[in-house]
Amino acid sequence: MSDDTEKTYEPSERVQKEAHVKDMETYRKMHKLSLDDPEKFWSDIAKQFYFKSPVTGKFLDYNFNIKNGPIYIKWMEGAVTNICYNCLDKHVKDGKGDVIAFYWEGNDPMDCTTITYSRLLEEVCKFSNILKSLGVKKGDRVAIYLPMILELVVAMLACARLGFIHSIVFAGFSAESLSSRILDAKADILITADGCFRGAKLVDLKKIADEAIHKCTEHNHKIKACITVKHVTDKSYCDDVTERPAKRPTNQMEVAWNPEVDKWYHELMADSSAECEPEWMESEESLFMLYTSGSTGTPKGVLHHVTGYMLYAATTHKYSFDYHPGEVYFCTADIGWITGHTYITYGPLLNGATSVLFEGTPLFPDCSRLWSIVDKYQVSKFYTAPTAIRALMKYGEEPVQRFKRTSLKVLGTVGEPINPEAWIWYHKVIGNSQCCIVDTFWQTETGGHVLTPMPGCTPTKPGAATFPFFGVEPAVLTDEGKEVEGPGKGYLVFKRPWPGIMRTVYGDHARFEKTYFSKFPGYYVAGDGCTRDEDGYYWITGRIDDMLNISGHLLSTAEVESALIKHASVSEAAVVGKPHSVKGFCIYCFVTLKEGIKFTDDVVKELKLRVREDIGPIGTPEYIQYAPGLPKTRSGKIMRRVLRAIAQGRRDMIGDISTMADESVVETLFGTRPPQNSD
Ligand code: WTA
Repeated sequence: MSDDTEKTYEPSERVQKEAHVKDMETYRKMHKLSLDDPEKFWSDIAKQFYFKSPVTGKFLDYNFNIKNGPIYIKWMEGAVTNICYNCLDKHVKDGKGDVIAFYWEGNDPMDCTTITYSRLLEEVCKFSNILKSLGVKKGDRVAIYLPMILELVVAMLACARLGFIHSIVFAGFSAESLSSRILDAKADILITADGCFRGAKLVDLKKIADEAIHKCTEHNHKIKACITVKHVTDKSYCDDVTERPAKRPTNQMEVAWNPEVDKWYHELMADSSAECEPEWMESEESLFMLYTSGSTGTPKGVLHHVTGYMLYAATTHKYSFDYHPGEVYFCTADIGWITGHTYITYGPLLNGATSVLFEGTPLFPDCSRLWSIVDKYQVSKFYTAPTAIRALMKYGEEPVQRFKRTSLKVLGTVGEPINPEAWIWYHKVIGNSQCCIVDTFWQTETGGHVLTPMPGCTPTKPGAATFPFFGVEPAVLTDEGKEVEGPGKGYLVFKRPWPGIMRTVYGDHARFEKTYFSKFPGYYVAGDGCTRDEDGYYWITGRIDDMLNISGHLLSTAEVESALIKHASVSEAAVVGKPHSVKGFCIYCFVTLKEGIKFTDDVVKELKLRVREDIGPIGTPEYIQYAPGLPKTRSGKIMRRVLRAIAQGRRDMIGDISTMADESVVETLFGTRPPQNSD
């Protein structure tokens, strides 16, 4: 294995033959043009889209240096377009209305349907009209809390069509997380579903939504309408489902109903018109917001605008996956995260692609589910996360070999650094050594891939995100903010805006400037560490702030700590990540209890539940350790580096503790470590 992980992999010939970019020389030329003449580069790309009117201001105008005044980024100022129009109407007008936009594959393998571009357009128009009739206005926020069903795509595109800012909250988040996001966005429309199955488990989404609405009321915020998709309870109205699946519908669930607020999606849709003129939007008007964890605790509403995001989503989808019309593309992410926004909805639809929209999980009904889907739809471009690959590796090759996978050409990964062993397994076992692996580095904030190989051109090294995408100019900075020349390591930063970069934090521009632009003036700071090797390849080494990356999803230590502190027994808490063989990292908490309270198994259980309720299942701590005291500097700052070493049982990682207020804490904490799982 170790030899394989150090090899460089040339692009597979079968991919190279038909690739949009066939060699590194072409890539370099295109990349150089994108930096030397962004207007030429991106205006050529913009020609594939419909614009109601052209650019009136500067093609690109920005300030990236906080010392020169407020940060701003404007692309194609004054141009007027609509992203939903470009995702749907344009293809229908071009005679491609019968192309399948999505193969929907339910949690249950028997549960599937398809939707064409023209049918999707009709549904979107109908739903747009409903939102309009509820009084939603351009610029208003609409909260969406839905499982991976077609109605989620319909709802987001309906918002985009009329200039409503969608704020999608991953349907695995808790009522507390949902309500805090609704409150921050001041959304007064919520779209949800009765429930969904995740594997064999039934999730009562409407109940969680109702709790969130209740919490909003407690904060004097009223939800005007809650629109509910009937997904798991009686589904008799839906004639698309070819065969009634075993796991759906269910009568195990009752939906509480408040006639003043609640409305069934299907009842509203039944008599809504399928004609709806899009709202023509200026380039720098808002498209959507999506919350991502912030190191100070409350999540940040990352705001993306229309045109830059549109250009970037489409272009990265086309080149990073080398997508060609007619191919079937499958991204396993949830639309509740940025990967689903850009690489399930917007990017693929802008390119007229046919995608698989998958509701289920890789392990249900068994661990060969993803490969059965690949064969069923003849998927050629596949995109998943390292945590999923590692989870599947545990079951060995046999479940993979049950399926042919000969249609696969490009295999993408995203979410966290991929360990070289998982990369090799992905390449050899899943891809039969016949596919190109693309390790795509990006963030909610970047809108789309910023470092990525291009299939058919980039020689890849296991674990490297390789080179910048078009328009992206990365640099590596030392602690002092000096640019590293040639090979070296440091902070990953970007020197100029590409079209897809976020424009602000919703309602808090100062936080945007402080988080991303204040540490090193003149640069966007990603928050990740990075190494550039002697061949110029970029390798992401992981977060360098107080963020935890759990199964590819970011949480801040502060979010988990504040959930723990809410428990009446806890006086202080500190949270770190501990390496985990499947999740990448898991959550490890140190808690100090109030005087007189005993640390018992019940307390541990309650604390785990508390965090889970506050954040959602992804926030569930793996370990809770009793800490009579925490390692702090004399100025009172918690030394997380020391806690990370204790969590791993590694005395050799403790390092310098000369600034610590009370050094005896370290030994005490080595003594209170809970039993560790094999991970
Ligand atoms: C991490 C997900 C290494 C990184 C699209 C980043 C990665 C954070 C990679 C953003 C990758 C994402 N290699 N690390 N290929 N992709 N990350 O906002 O730490 O949910 O800053 O966006 O995930 O997470 P977010």
